[in-house]
Amino acid sequence: MKIAISGKGGVGKTTFAALLIRTLDQAGKHVLAIDADPDANLASAVGVSGAGDIVPIAEMEDLIYERTEARPGTIGGYFKLNPKVDDLPDTLSVKLNNIKLMRLGGVKKGGAGCICPESTLLKALVTHIVLARDEVVIMDMEAGIEHLGRGTAKAVNRLLVVVEPGRRSIDTAEHIRKLASEIGLSNIHLIGNKIRNKDDEAFLKDHLSGFEFLGFLPFDDALIEADLKGISPFDTESAAKKIVESIALHL
Ligand SMILES: Nc1ncnc2c1ncn2[C@@H]1O[C@H](COP(=O)(O)OP(=O)(O)O)[C@@H](O)[C@H]1O
Ligand SMILES: [Mg+2]
Repeated sequence: MKIAISGKGGVGKTTFAALLIRTLDQAGKHVLAIDADPDANLASAVGVSGAGDIVPIAEMEDLIYERTEARPGTIGGYFKLNPKVDDLPDTLSVKLNNIKLMRLGGVKKGGAGCICPESTLLKALVTHIVLARDEVVIMDMEAGIEHLGRGTAKAVNRLLVVVEPGRRSIDTAEHIRKLASEIGLSNIHLIGNKIRNKDDEAFLKDHLSGFEFLGFLPFDDALIEADLKGISPFDTESAAKKIVESIALHL
């Protein structure tokens, strides 16, 4: 099972991803968790110790050089287009229970789509993970699907887009659907988050009538508190946990 999570910044992608990862882990699954959002810290939300010290793959200059034969930041020069990556999920991941977590980091020059050694390594890694790993893969992404492409779209079982009651998150969901359809990824479902009442739920259903929702998570101060304290949302008391459990059963 390969699941990608996207949505506007701040809607709760990382919170939801962390709850899902820990829920699946507790259910006995082996999970490979991919932090593909340079602005996020999935490791800390999952509850991995030393989360702040994890060096993202995109910043591992020696590794990038060793695998691509070019230095990060060089553009247009010669480098390998198919670097070896199959050992990386085991050697470079941090562990918690049966969870392996990798932090991809961001490509500084030219963006993730640039033809440079670091983005080539990341792309090769994501392709390998999606096509060849047999764990449950959960990818916490940005407000787009940068790391996915035509070659991997078919292998992604679901794209889950997190939305909150608000216009911009709705626009972002529509935009993501467009990007996804361009690469042939059509299995998209929504998760409503930060729901305060029935009106919030109705607002989202009304404005996103072309989508199917897998669940609605309540707005919960306990999740904010957990974030402030640097503990996993899974390690706090929240009604959201039960809902994520039922979502996990239907994936
Ligand atoms: N259901 C919720 N209720 C209240 N706060 C939430 C909820 N989900 C997420 N948050 C808070 O919203 C903020 C952004 O969440 P985060 O998961 O980091 O979003 P994203 O990964 O989409 O940028 C965090 O402070 C988080 O604690
Ligand atoms: Mg995030």
